[in-house]
Amino acid sequence: MRKPYIYGNWKMNLDMHGSSDLISSILSVKIDYTKVDVGVAPDFSSLYKVSQTIKQMGYPISVAAQNISAEEKGAFTGDVSAAMVFAAGADSTILGHSERRMIFAEGDELINQKVKTALRNNLDVILCVGETLDERESGVAADRVVYQVGMGLKDIGMDRINRVTLAYEPVWAIGTGKTATPADAEDIHGKIRTQLSKMYGPVVAEKIRILYGGSVKPDNVSALMMRENIDGALVGGASLDATSFAKLVNFNG
Ligand code: PGA
Repeated sequence: MRKPYIYGNWKMNLDMHGSSDLISSILSVKIDYTKVDVGVAPDFSSLYKVSQTIKQMGYPISVAAQNISAEEKGAFTGDVSAAMVFAAGADSTILGHSERRMIFAEGDELINQKVKTALRNNLDVILCVGETLDERESGVAADRVVYQVGMGLKDIGMDRINRVTLAYEPVWAIGTGKTATPADAEDIHGKIRTQLSKMYGPVVAEKIRILYGGSVKPDNVSALMMRENIDGALVGGASLDATSFAKLVNFNG
């Protein structure tokens, strides 16, 4: 049985003051951490403050960067390295988010480099995959997603795969208010698990968590979470409000 995992992706919405207020509000909510894993992904400039606040309160909340550089260090103006976010208190990083793929033209090779860099620097990875509306309408959604999984995890061996969480985020469902139906999402999640099974065998594949992302809200989270291969949610908009995030985390009642 995989433990549910609810992750908030705050994107570029809150400065360090807003992030600090939000994490304090989340920490004041009653959450049974034995039943659900929780994580938040603030912007780079808020990572230290947010991770320190969580540590001081002693809660087991994961903190992720939203992205890292593929490079270790050096003359890469404006980039932030895996070691830097680790030093600031992150234990994980989101990689391959569709906004990075679409707006910043990140391709599968680069994302694979970033996965390796993250793991080498003690960061766990939330690897996002997902098809565009065009790809869905032309019937290649599953092929596209399976390809992204294979490419993103290229050369990641059995010794490190347990530090990776997958997130299926159909591009057309992100920030649009459109959600894949639980059945559509489950179909792709099942195919992702089959691909993981081909790469790592069924025992390992059964243990890897696959989150769903794309307009997850308190009123649709339970129906998604009931599906066999949907193990959690990566949430943007609805994670920016502590009450709504708390409802997501406590989806089970
Ligand atoms: P959304 O974003 O919940 O606002 O659709 C999800 C994501 O991009 O992770």
